[in-house]
Amino acid sequence: MKRQASRRRFLTEMAAGAVVLPAALSRTASGQDGAGPPPATPVAPPWPHGAFSAPRDETWWEMVRAQFSFTEERVPMNAANLCPSPRSVAARVEELTRDIDRDCSFNNRAKFRGLTEQSRTGVAAQLGVSPDEIAIVRNTSEANNTINNGVDLRAGDEVILWDQNHPTNNVAWDVRAARFGITVKRVSVPRHPASAQDLIDPFVAALTDRTRVLSLTHVSNVSGIRLPVRELVEAARPRGIQVHVDGAQSWGALDVDLGALGCDSYSASAHKWYMGPKEAGVLFVREDRIPEVWPNIVAPGWGNDADPDVTGARKFESLGQRDDACLAAVGTTAEFHAGIGGAETEERIAGLATQLKEGLVELGMTLVTPMEPGLSGGVCIIEVPGDRGTALRRLYEEHGIAGAGTGGLRLCPHVYNTREHVARAVEGVKALRGVILG
Ligand SMILES: Cc1ncc(COP(=O)(O)O)c(C=O)c1O
Repeated sequence: MKRQASRRRFLTEMAAGAVVLPAALSRTASGQDGAGPPPATPVAPPWPHGAFSAPRDETWWEMVRAQFSFTEERVPMNAANLCPSPRSVAARVEELTRDIDRDCSFNNRAKFRGLTEQSRTGVAAQLGVSPDEIAIVRNTSEANNTINNGVDLRAGDEVILWDQNHPTNNVAWDVRAARFGITVKRVSVPRHPASAQDLIDPFVAALTDRTRVLSLTHVSNVSGIRLPVRELVEAARPRGIQVHVDGAQSWGALDVDLGALGCDSYSASAHKWYMGPKEAGVLFVREDRIPEVWPNIVAPGWGNDADPDVTGARKFESLGQRDDACLAAVGTTAEFHAGIGGAETEERIAGLATQLKEGLVELGMTLVTPMEPGLSGGVCIIEVPGDRGTALRRLYEEHGIAGAGTGGLRLCPHVYNTREHVARAVEGVKALRGVILG
Protein backbone atom coordinates (compact mmCIF):
# COMPACT_ATOMS: atom_id res chain seq x y z
CA MET A 1 0.00 0.00 0.00
CA LYS A 2 2.86 2.33 0.94
CA ARG A 3 4.46 1.65 -2.44
CA GLN A 4 1.22 2.26 -4.31
CA ALA A 5 0.78 5.63 -2.59
CA SER A 6 4.36 6.74 -3.29
CA ARG A 7 3.98 5.62 -6.94
CA ARG A 8 0.85 7.75 -7.30
CA ARG A 9 2.44 10.75 -5.59
CA PHE A 10 5.55 10.56 -7.79
CA LEU A 11 3.55 10.29 -11.00
CA THR A 12 1.51 13.37 -10.08
CA GLU A 13 4.61 15.38 -9.20
CA MET A 14 6.43 14.29 -12.35
CA ALA A 15 3.47 15.19 -14.51
CA ALA A 16 3.34 18.64 -12.96
CA GLY A 17 7.09 19.13 -13.50
CA ALA A 18 6.93 17.89 -17.06
CA VAL A 19 5.05 21.03 -18.13
CA VAL A 20 8.46 22.70 -18.52
CA LEU A 21 9.64 20.01 -20.96
CA PRO A 22 8.44 21.53 -24.25
CA ALA A 23 10.25 24.83 -23.59
CA ALA A 24 13.52 22.90 -23.58
CA LEU A 25 12.43 21.07 -26.71
CA SER A 26 11.55 24.18 -28.69
CA ARG A 27 14.87 25.78 -27.67
CA THR A 28 16.73 22.82 -29.18
CA ALA A 29 14.54 22.71 -32.26
CA SER A 30 15.07 26.40 -33.00
CA GLY A 31 18.81 25.83 -33.02
CA GLN A 32 19.59 28.25 -30.17
CA ASP A 33 22.04 25.78 -28.71
CA GLY A 34 23.85 25.46 -32.05
CA ALA A 35 22.62 21.88 -32.46
CA GLY A 36 23.00 21.93 -36.27
CA PRO A 37 20.50 22.09 -39.12
CA PRO A 38 16.79 22.39 -38.34
CA PRO A 39 14.91 19.09 -38.09
CA ALA A 40 13.05 17.76 -41.11
CA THR A 41 9.88 17.25 -39.07
CA PRO A 42 7.69 19.93 -37.52
CA VAL A 43 9.19 21.66 -34.51
CA ALA A 44 7.58 20.37 -31.33
CA PRO A 45 4.75 22.77 -30.57
CA PRO A 46 4.62 24.13 -27.06
CA TRP A 47 2.97 21.62 -24.76
CA PRO A 48 0.20 23.91 -23.53
CA HIS A 49 -0.36 24.63 -19.89
CA GLY A 50 -2.87 22.16 -18.52
CA ALA A 51 -2.14 19.67 -21.30
CA PHE A 52 -1.71 16.88 -18.81
CA SER A 53 -5.30 17.06 -17.66
CA ALA A 54 -6.60 17.63 -21.21
CA PRO A 55 -8.57 14.82 -22.86
CA ARG A 56 -6.37 12.37 -24.74
CA ASP A 57 -7.96 13.03 -28.12
CA GLU A 58 -6.24 12.74 -31.51
CA THR A 59 -5.02 16.37 -31.30
CA TRP A 60 -3.33 15.55 -28.02
CA TRP A 61 -1.64 12.46 -29.49
CA GLU A 62 -0.48 14.52 -32.50
CA MET A 63 1.27 16.72 -29.96
CA VAL A 64 3.01 13.64 -28.55
CA ARG A 65 4.06 12.55 -32.06
CA ALA A 66 5.57 16.03 -32.62
CA GLN A 67 7.98 15.42 -29.74
CA PHE A 68 9.85 12.96 -32.02
CA SER A 69 12.17 13.84 -34.89
CA PHE A 70 11.44 11.00 -37.34
CA THR A 71 9.98 12.03 -40.70
CA GLU A 72 6.61 11.00 -42.12
CA GLU A 73 8.49 9.20 -44.90
CA ARG A 74 10.16 6.74 -42.48
CA VAL A 75 7.73 5.85 -39.72
CA PRO A 76 9.05 3.55 -36.97
CA MET A 77 6.73 0.67 -36.06
CA ASN A 78 9.27 -1.71 -34.56
CA ALA A 79 9.22 -0.77 -30.88
CA ALA A 80 9.93 -4.40 -29.93
CA ASN A 81 13.42 -3.87 -31.33
CA LEU A 82 14.31 -0.17 -30.94
CA CYS A 83 12.38 3.05 -30.41
CA PRO A 84 13.21 6.63 -31.26
CA SER A 85 13.66 8.84 -28.20
CA PRO A 86 11.67 12.06 -27.81
CA ARG A 87 13.63 15.22 -28.55
CA SER A 88 13.93 16.01 -24.83
CA VAL A 89 15.81 12.75 -24.18
CA ALA A 90 18.05 13.03 -27.26
CA ALA A 91 18.83 16.66 -26.31
CA ARG A 92 19.68 15.66 -22.75
CA VAL A 93 22.12 12.96 -23.90
CA GLU A 94 23.73 15.43 -26.29
CA GLU A 95 23.91 18.24 -23.76
CA LEU A 96 25.49 16.09 -21.04
CA THR A 97 27.90 14.38 -23.44
CA ARG A 98 29.14 17.80 -24.53
CA ASP A 99 29.39 18.85 -20.90
CA ILE A 100 31.69 15.89 -20.15
CA ASP A 101 33.79 16.58 -23.23
CA ARG A 102 34.18 20.21 -22.20
CA ASP A 103 35.28 19.25 -18.68
CA CYS A 104 35.83 15.61 -17.79
CA SER A 105 37.29 16.35 -14.35
CA PHE A 106 36.07 14.43 -11.33
CA ASN A 107 34.91 17.83 -10.07
CA ASN A 108 32.56 18.37 -13.00
CA ARG A 109 31.37 14.78 -13.15
CA ALA A 110 30.50 14.64 -9.44
CA LYS A 111 26.95 15.74 -10.32
CA PHE A 112 26.27 12.52 -12.21
CA ARG A 113 25.91 10.50 -9.05
CA GLY A 114 22.87 12.59 -8.13
CA LEU A 115 21.50 12.50 -11.67
CA THR A 116 21.74 8.70 -11.80
CA GLU A 117 19.95 8.51 -8.47
CA GLN A 118 17.20 10.76 -9.88
CA SER A 119 16.85 8.35 -12.80
CA ARG A 120 16.62 5.42 -10.42
CA THR A 121 13.97 7.15 -8.30
CA GLY A 122 11.89 8.00 -11.38
CA VAL A 123 12.02 4.49 -12.78
CA ALA A 124 11.38 2.84 -9.40
CA ALA A 125 8.34 4.99 -8.66
CA GLN A 126 6.77 4.21 -12.03
CA LEU A 127 7.40 0.49 -11.53
CA GLY A 128 5.94 0.60 -8.01
CA VAL A 129 9.09 -0.52 -6.18
CA SER A 130 11.87 0.99 -4.04
CA PRO A 131 14.86 2.71 -5.72
CA ASP A 132 17.11 0.31 -3.76
CA GLU A 133 15.59 -2.56 -5.75
CA ILE A 134 16.55 -1.05 -9.14
CA ALA A 135 19.87 -1.42 -10.97
CA ILE A 136 20.40 0.67 -14.10
CA VAL A 137 22.23 -1.76 -16.34
CA ARG A 138 22.95 -1.81 -20.09
CA ASN A 139 20.04 -3.79 -21.50
CA THR A 140 17.70 -6.74 -20.99
CA SER A 141 20.34 -9.17 -22.24
CA GLU A 142 22.70 -8.20 -19.46
CA ALA A 143 19.96 -8.18 -16.82
CA ASN A 144 18.70 -11.65 -17.83
CA ASN A 145 22.24 -13.01 -17.67
CA THR A 146 22.79 -11.48 -14.23
CA ILE A 147 19.84 -13.54 -13.04
CA ASN A 148 20.73 -16.81 -14.76
CA ASN A 149 24.36 -16.55 -13.67
CA GLY A 150 23.62 -15.13 -10.25
CA VAL A 151 20.87 -17.29 -8.73
CA ASP A 152 22.38 -19.96 -6.47
CA LEU A 153 21.52 -23.31 -8.09
CA ARG A 154 22.96 -26.81 -7.69
CA ALA A 155 23.10 -29.94 -9.84
CA GLY A 156 19.62 -31.46 -10.03
CA ASP A 157 17.79 -28.16 -9.47
CA GLU A 158 15.20 -27.46 -12.13
CA VAL A 159 14.50 -24.29 -14.09
CA ILE A 160 11.25 -23.93 -16.04
CA LEU A 161 11.23 -21.63 -19.07
CA TRP A 162 8.66 -20.47 -21.60
CA ASP A 163 9.84 -21.80 -24.97
CA GLN A 164 9.15 -18.32 -26.38
CA ASN A 165 11.78 -16.67 -24.15
CA HIS A 166 14.50 -14.59 -25.83
CA PRO A 167 17.89 -16.40 -26.17
CA THR A 168 19.25 -14.40 -23.21
CA ASN A 169 16.57 -16.01 -21.04
CA ASN A 170 16.61 -19.34 -22.85
CA VAL A 171 19.89 -20.54 -24.40
CA ALA A 172 21.69 -18.70 -21.59
CA TRP A 173 20.09 -21.19 -19.15
CA ASP A 174 21.37 -24.10 -21.31
CA VAL A 175 24.89 -22.74 -20.97
CA ARG A 176 24.38 -22.61 -17.21
CA ALA A 177 23.05 -26.19 -17.27
CA ALA A 178 26.08 -27.42 -19.25
CA ARG A 179 28.35 -25.90 -16.62
CA PHE A 180 26.55 -26.77 -13.38
CA GLY A 181 24.30 -29.73 -14.16
CA ILE A 182 20.96 -28.05 -13.54
CA THR A 183 17.92 -29.22 -15.48
CA VAL A 184 16.18 -26.88 -17.91
CA LYS A 185 12.61 -27.60 -19.04
CA ARG A 186 10.64 -25.64 -21.61
CA VAL A 187 6.90 -25.09 -21.58
CA SER A 188 4.76 -24.46 -24.67
CA VAL A 189 1.38 -22.72 -24.61
CA PRO A 190 -1.46 -23.09 -27.14
CA ARG A 191 -0.71 -21.23 -30.37
CA HIS A 192 -4.05 -19.42 -30.12
CA PRO A 193 -4.93 -19.17 -26.40
CA ALA A 194 -8.62 -18.54 -25.74
CA SER A 195 -8.12 -17.33 -22.15
CA ALA A 196 -5.53 -16.53 -19.50
CA GLN A 197 -6.21 -19.97 -18.03
CA ASP A 198 -4.87 -21.54 -21.26
CA LEU A 199 -1.60 -19.76 -20.50
CA ILE A 200 -1.51 -20.65 -16.80
CA ASP A 201 -2.25 -24.37 -16.93
CA PRO A 202 0.80 -25.57 -18.92
CA PHE A 203 3.21 -23.80 -16.53
CA VAL A 204 1.50 -25.01 -13.36
CA ALA A 205 1.51 -28.57 -14.72
CA ALA A 206 5.28 -28.36 -15.28
CA LEU A 207 6.22 -27.33 -11.71
CA THR A 208 7.75 -30.09 -9.57
CA ASP A 209 9.35 -30.41 -6.14
CA ARG A 210 12.73 -29.78 -7.76
CA THR A 211 11.71 -26.55 -9.51
CA ARG A 212 13.70 -23.60 -8.17
CA VAL A 213 13.16 -20.96 -10.87
CA LEU A 214 10.34 -20.09 -13.25
CA SER A 215 11.71 -17.73 -15.89
CA LEU A 216 9.15 -16.03 -18.12
CA THR A 217 8.60 -13.27 -20.65
CA HIS A 218 5.88 -10.72 -19.93
CA VAL A 219 5.04 -10.15 -23.62
CA SER A 220 6.62 -12.37 -26.25
CA ASN A 221 8.60 -10.76 -29.07
CA VAL A 222 7.90 -13.78 -31.33
CA SER A 223 4.11 -14.11 -30.82
CA GLY A 224 2.93 -10.99 -28.97
CA ILE A 225 1.25 -13.19 -26.33
CA ARG A 226 1.10 -11.60 -22.86
CA LEU A 227 1.51 -14.04 -19.97
CA PRO A 228 -0.67 -13.63 -16.86
CA VAL A 229 2.37 -13.00 -14.66
CA ARG A 230 0.56 -12.27 -11.40
CA GLU A 231 -1.36 -15.56 -11.53
CA LEU A 232 1.81 -17.49 -12.38
CA VAL A 233 3.63 -15.86 -9.46
CA GLU A 234 0.71 -16.82 -7.20
CA ALA A 235 1.12 -20.45 -8.32
CA ALA A 236 4.92 -20.51 -7.93
CA ARG A 237 5.68 -18.50 -4.80
CA PRO A 238 3.94 -20.71 -2.22
CA ARG A 239 6.21 -23.53 -3.49
CA GLY A 240 9.35 -21.45 -2.87
CA ILE A 241 9.98 -21.00 -6.61
CA GLN A 242 11.49 -17.71 -7.70
CA VAL A 243 9.99 -16.03 -10.72
CA HIS A 244 12.03 -13.96 -13.15
CA VAL A 245 10.21 -11.89 -15.78
CA ASP A 246 11.77 -10.53 -18.97
CA GLY A 247 9.94 -7.25 -19.46
CA ALA A 248 11.68 -6.12 -22.67
CA GLN A 249 8.27 -5.88 -24.37
CA SER A 250 6.32 -4.49 -21.42
CA TRP A 251 8.37 -1.69 -19.78
CA GLY A 252 7.11 1.55 -21.31
CA ALA A 253 4.22 -0.17 -23.11
CA LEU A 254 2.10 -1.57 -20.26
CA ASP A 255 1.43 0.17 -16.96
CA VAL A 256 3.75 -2.23 -15.14
CA ASP A 257 3.44 -2.32 -11.35
CA LEU A 258 6.04 -4.78 -10.10
CA GLY A 259 4.72 -4.57 -6.55
CA ALA A 260 1.37 -5.88 -7.82
CA LEU A 261 2.91 -8.50 -10.15
CA GLY A 262 4.92 -9.90 -7.23
CA CYS A 263 7.82 -11.36 -9.26
CA ASP A 264 11.30 -11.77 -7.74
CA SER A 265 13.14 -10.06 -10.59
CA TYR A 266 12.35 -8.16 -13.80
CA SER A 267 14.56 -7.04 -16.67
CA ALA A 268 14.02 -4.53 -19.49
CA SER A 269 15.73 -2.20 -21.97
CA ALA A 270 15.30 1.59 -21.98
CA HIS A 271 15.83 1.77 -25.76
CA LYS A 272 12.71 -0.28 -26.54
CA TRP A 273 9.18 0.75 -25.52
CA TYR A 274 10.54 3.03 -22.81
CA MET A 275 11.91 5.30 -25.60
CA GLY A 276 14.97 6.13 -23.52
CA PRO A 277 18.66 6.46 -24.34
CA LYS A 278 20.36 3.59 -26.16
CA GLU A 279 22.20 0.94 -24.16
CA ALA A 280 20.43 1.48 -20.89
CA GLY A 281 18.22 -1.01 -19.11
CA VAL A 282 16.84 -1.98 -15.73
CA LEU A 283 17.17 -4.95 -13.47
CA PHE A 284 14.72 -5.09 -10.56
CA VAL A 285 15.47 -7.59 -7.82
CA ARG A 286 13.08 -7.78 -4.85
CA GLU A 287 14.68 -6.54 -1.64
CA ASP A 288 14.77 -9.90 0.16
CA ARG A 289 16.33 -11.63 -2.88
CA ILE A 290 19.16 -9.13 -3.47
CA PRO A 291 21.64 -10.72 -1.01
CA GLU A 292 21.06 -14.16 -2.64
CA VAL A 293 21.86 -13.10 -6.22
CA TRP A 294 25.55 -12.98 -7.21
CA PRO A 295 26.73 -10.14 -9.45
CA ASN A 296 28.14 -10.87 -12.92
CA ILE A 297 30.77 -8.16 -12.75
CA VAL A 298 32.65 -6.62 -9.84
CA ALA A 299 34.34 -3.28 -10.53
CA PRO A 300 35.50 -0.16 -8.64
CA GLY A 301 32.64 1.22 -6.60
CA TRP A 302 31.75 -2.23 -5.27
CA GLY A 303 34.04 -1.98 -2.23
CA ASN A 304 37.06 -3.89 -0.96
CA ASP A 305 35.67 -7.25 0.09
CA ALA A 306 32.96 -9.74 -0.82
CA ASP A 307 30.29 -7.62 0.83
CA PRO A 308 29.27 -4.76 -1.46
CA ASP A 309 29.60 -1.22 -0.10
CA VAL A 310 26.73 -0.11 -2.30
CA THR A 311 23.12 -0.37 -1.18
CA GLY A 312 20.64 -2.87 -2.60
CA ALA A 313 20.44 -3.61 -6.33
CA ARG A 314 23.21 -1.09 -7.11
CA LYS A 315 25.56 -4.07 -6.77
CA PHE A 316 24.29 -5.30 -10.16
CA GLU A 317 25.40 -2.12 -11.95
CA SER A 318 29.05 -2.30 -10.90
CA LEU A 319 30.32 -2.20 -14.49
CA GLY A 320 33.33 0.11 -14.55
CA GLN A 321 33.13 3.44 -16.38
CA ARG A 322 29.61 4.09 -17.60
CA ASP A 323 28.05 6.51 -20.06
CA ASP A 324 26.93 9.04 -17.46
CA ALA A 325 24.94 11.14 -19.95
CA CYS A 326 22.91 8.07 -20.86
CA LEU A 327 22.24 7.17 -17.21
CA ALA A 328 21.07 10.73 -16.48
CA ALA A 329 18.81 10.76 -19.55
CA VAL A 330 16.90 7.76 -18.19
CA GLY A 331 15.46 10.26 -15.68
CA THR A 332 14.46 12.61 -18.53
CA THR A 333 12.65 9.65 -20.09
CA ALA A 334 10.83 8.99 -16.82
CA GLU A 335 9.63 12.62 -16.91
CA PHE A 336 8.39 12.16 -20.46
CA HIS A 337 6.39 9.08 -19.46
CA ALA A 338 4.95 10.86 -16.45
CA GLY A 339 3.72 13.59 -18.82
CA ILE A 340 1.64 11.01 -20.70
CA GLY A 341 0.77 8.58 -17.89
CA GLY A 342 1.32 4.84 -17.64
CA ALA A 343 -2.35 3.84 -17.86
CA GLU A 344 -2.91 6.31 -20.73
CA THR A 345 0.07 4.87 -22.62
CA GLU A 346 -1.18 1.30 -22.21
CA GLU A 347 -4.67 2.31 -23.33
CA ARG A 348 -3.38 4.21 -26.38
CA ILE A 349 -1.16 1.32 -27.47
CA ALA A 350 -4.05 -1.12 -27.05
CA GLY A 351 -6.24 1.17 -29.19
CA LEU A 352 -3.66 1.40 -31.98
CA ALA A 353 -2.89 -2.33 -31.81
CA THR A 354 -6.60 -3.17 -32.05
CA GLN A 355 -7.03 -0.84 -35.04
CA LEU A 356 -4.07 -2.56 -36.69
CA LYS A 357 -5.12 -6.14 -35.90
CA GLU A 358 -8.74 -5.56 -36.99
CA GLY A 359 -7.54 -3.96 -40.23
CA LEU A 360 -5.24 -6.89 -40.96
CA VAL A 361 -7.89 -9.51 -40.19
CA GLU A 362 -10.30 -7.71 -42.55
CA LEU A 363 -7.69 -8.20 -45.28
CA GLY A 364 -7.76 -11.96 -44.64
CA MET A 365 -4.47 -12.07 -42.71
CA THR A 366 -3.97 -14.62 -39.91
CA LEU A 367 -2.98 -13.16 -36.57
CA VAL A 368 -0.22 -14.84 -34.58
CA THR A 369 -0.98 -12.41 -31.73
CA PRO A 370 -4.26 -12.69 -29.78
CA MET A 371 -6.83 -10.01 -30.67
CA GLU A 372 -7.77 -9.49 -26.98
CA PRO A 373 -5.78 -6.69 -25.31
CA GLY A 374 -5.73 -8.69 -22.06
CA LEU A 375 -3.74 -11.46 -23.74
CA SER A 376 -1.41 -9.18 -25.69
CA GLY A 377 0.45 -5.84 -25.59
CA GLY A 378 1.79 -3.67 -28.41
CA VAL A 379 3.53 -6.45 -30.34
CA CYS A 380 1.32 -7.38 -33.34
CA ILE A 381 2.30 -10.25 -35.64
CA ILE A 382 0.67 -11.86 -38.68
CA GLU A 383 1.62 -15.10 -40.42
CA VAL A 384 3.62 -14.78 -43.64
CA PRO A 385 3.42 -17.94 -45.75
CA GLY A 386 4.90 -15.92 -48.66
CA ASP A 387 8.06 -13.86 -49.03
CA ARG A 388 8.70 -12.16 -45.71
CA GLY A 389 11.91 -10.34 -46.72
CA THR A 390 10.36 -8.75 -49.80
CA ALA A 391 7.21 -7.79 -47.89
CA LEU A 392 9.24 -6.01 -45.20
CA ARG A 393 11.50 -4.25 -47.68
CA ARG A 394 8.59 -3.00 -49.77
CA LEU A 395 6.55 -1.96 -46.74
CA TYR A 396 9.47 0.28 -45.80
CA GLU A 397 10.48 1.53 -49.26
CA GLU A 398 7.01 1.98 -50.79
CA HIS A 399 4.87 2.75 -47.73
CA GLY A 400 7.38 4.25 -45.28
CA ILE A 401 6.61 1.80 -42.47
CA ALA A 402 9.53 0.14 -40.65
CA GLY A 403 8.51 -3.24 -39.18
CA ALA A 404 10.33 -6.52 -38.52
CA GLY A 405 10.24 -10.14 -39.66
CA THR A 406 10.27 -11.70 -36.18
CA GLY A 407 7.63 -14.42 -35.79
CA GLY A 408 5.96 -13.42 -39.09
CA LEU A 409 5.39 -9.80 -40.07
CA ARG A 410 5.69 -7.81 -36.86
CA LEU A 411 4.36 -4.27 -36.39
CA CYS A 412 4.47 -2.52 -33.02
CA PRO A 413 2.59 0.79 -32.83
CA HIS A 414 3.54 3.15 -30.00
CA VAL A 415 2.49 6.57 -28.68
CA TYR A 416 4.52 8.33 -31.39
CA ASN A 417 2.40 6.61 -34.05
CA THR A 418 -0.83 8.18 -35.20
CA ARG A 419 -4.05 6.54 -36.40
CA GLU A 420 -2.94 7.57 -39.91
CA HIS A 421 0.34 5.63 -39.53
CA VAL A 422 -1.61 2.52 -38.57
CA ALA A 423 -4.04 2.98 -41.48
CA ARG A 424 -1.04 3.35 -43.78
CA ALA A 425 0.49 0.12 -42.46
CA VAL A 426 -2.81 -1.70 -43.20
CA GLU A 427 -2.92 -0.16 -46.71
CA GLY A 428 0.67 -1.30 -47.25
CA VAL A 429 -0.15 -4.87 -46.24
CA LYS A 430 -3.18 -4.73 -48.57
CA ALA A 431 -0.96 -3.66 -51.48
CA LEU A 432 1.53 -6.42 -50.63
CA ARG A 433 -1.08 -9.08 -49.98
CA GLY A 434 0.13 -11.32 -52.85
CA VAL A 435 3.73 -11.18 -51.60
CA ILE A 436 2.68 -11.92 -47.98
CA LEU A 437 0.27 -14.75 -48.71
CA GLY A 438 2.48 -16.25 -51.46
C1 LIG B 1 11.85 -10.50 -24.92
C2 LIG B 1 13.22 -9.93 -25.18
N1 LIG B 1 14.17 -10.06 -24.26
C3 LIG B 1 15.40 -9.55 -24.42
C4 LIG B 1 15.73 -8.86 -25.57
C5 LIG B 1 17.11 -8.29 -25.71
O1 LIG B 1 17.07 -6.90 -25.65
P1 LIG B 1 18.43 -6.06 -25.70
O2 LIG B 1 19.05 -6.37 -27.02
O3 LIG B 1 17.99 -4.66 -25.56
O4 LIG B 1 19.26 -6.55 -24.59
C6 LIG B 1 14.78 -8.70 -26.57
C7 LIG B 1 15.10 -8.01 -27.82
O5 LIG B 1 14.34 -7.94 -28.76
C8 LIG B 1 13.48 -9.24 -26.37
O6 LIG B 1 12.51 -9.12 -27.29
